[in-house]
Amino acid sequence: MLKTTLTRMLKIDYPILQAPMAGGPATPALAAAVSNAGGLGSLGAGYLTPEQIRSAIREVRERTDRPFGVNLFVPEQPQEDAEAIARMNAYLDRYREELGIAQLSEIPQAAENFEEQVKVLLEQGVPIVSFTFGIPSQAIIHALRQRGTTIIGTATTVQEAELLEAAGVDAIVAQGSEAGGHRGTFTSGASDALIGTMALVPQATDHVKLPVIASGGIMDGRGLVAALALGASAVQMGTAFLASPESGAHAAYKHKILVSREDATQVTTAYSGKAARGIRTEFMRDMQDYPGTIPAYPLQNAMTRDIRQAAAKANKPEYMSLWAGQGLRLAGEAAAADVVRRTMEQAERLLGRMAGTLPG
Ligand SMILES: Cc1cc2nc3c(=O)[nH]c(=O)nc-3n(C[C@H](O)[C@H](O)[C@H](O)COP(=O)(O)O)c2cc1C
Repeated sequence: MLKTTLTRMLKIDYPILQAPMAGGPATPALAAAVSNAGGLGSLGAGYLTPEQIRSAIREVRERTDRPFGVNLFVPEQPQEDAEAIARMNAYLDRYREELGIAQLSEIPQAAENFEEQVKVLLEQGVPIVSFTFGIPSQAIIHALRQRGTTIIGTATTVQEAELLEAAGVDAIVAQGSEAGGHRGTFTSGASDALIGTMALVPQATDHVKLPVIASGGIMDGRGLVAALALGASAVQMGTAFLASPESGAHAAYKHKILVSREDATQVTTAYSGKAARGIRTEFMRDMQDYPGTIPAYPLQNAMTRDIRQAAAKANKPEYMSLWAGQGLRLAGEAAAADVVRRTMEQAERLLGRMAGTLPG
């Protein structure tokens, strides 16, 4: 039944984690559906206020009594270049004008207070907490451990996996370059850390003792079997769940997921100031010609928020961020529980067939 170190550690039936997907897709309904189906559902809480996190956790608990995860972004302190920010803000006015929204009277708050977010996870006794964009402080790791929480970190290189292990996390997501959404990279230039899942996972498992969770481009049972063969203890799948009915992704975004091909995505900093993989849009193409420096995350993210929200309201996907991985042609609109069930059935069938055909 494909029991692994990680299924035992997380107390789940199957080695399938639904990727935490901040910004709307990873709803409490999606997380609960995946957990109820025997995988691990996760909330992407990076952009949520403490109160929103509290109520999302409550909603997951109303829908499932199985383990689930909550994910946060480890904060960064970007260099604030006032001139670059003002220049970008003025440049973005062309999109605001087109969408019929007001210019920004001031630059909005860039990010939620990380310490306050963590406090809610401690207060709520969330069973599994994962992080991306860096390593949380020792104080936070210690506090979570005291509360009995299992801690998962995100690495895009072997070195990042080693640093996370040394910091005391319990398991590591190895995020390959195929992955949709933001790169978790925190030690090198994001373009230097575009290591494919096939290359990253076996190198990571060779260099750390902790269980590794393969992530990026895994869409079905074939991907799961491949990941296990590479040494992973589980997979984390995002794009595979994006167009499911439980996903909170916008209808136009779901449509794009279902009709796009494997070559439709690109890694861009245009929306948020941080490298992320998404379906190519007019906004991404336009911003390639931007004559200045794109302000770093989370500043650029805060400055494009009004544009992305207005575009969603106006049903204009070309100005929305359509995060997605390279496995696009394998995405469907099945219910989340069916994605888990089919992935497991296919993996078990494949393993049986391989065992039957292998010599000796
Ligand atoms: C829409 C979207 C949002 C994401 N948001 C987060 C997030 O909030 N936190 C996180 O750790 N990873 C996030 N990711 C990355 C996933 O954890 C995972 O690495 C990725 O989905 C795996 O690649 P796949 O989409 O090809 O399955 C996101 C991915 C997508 C597609």
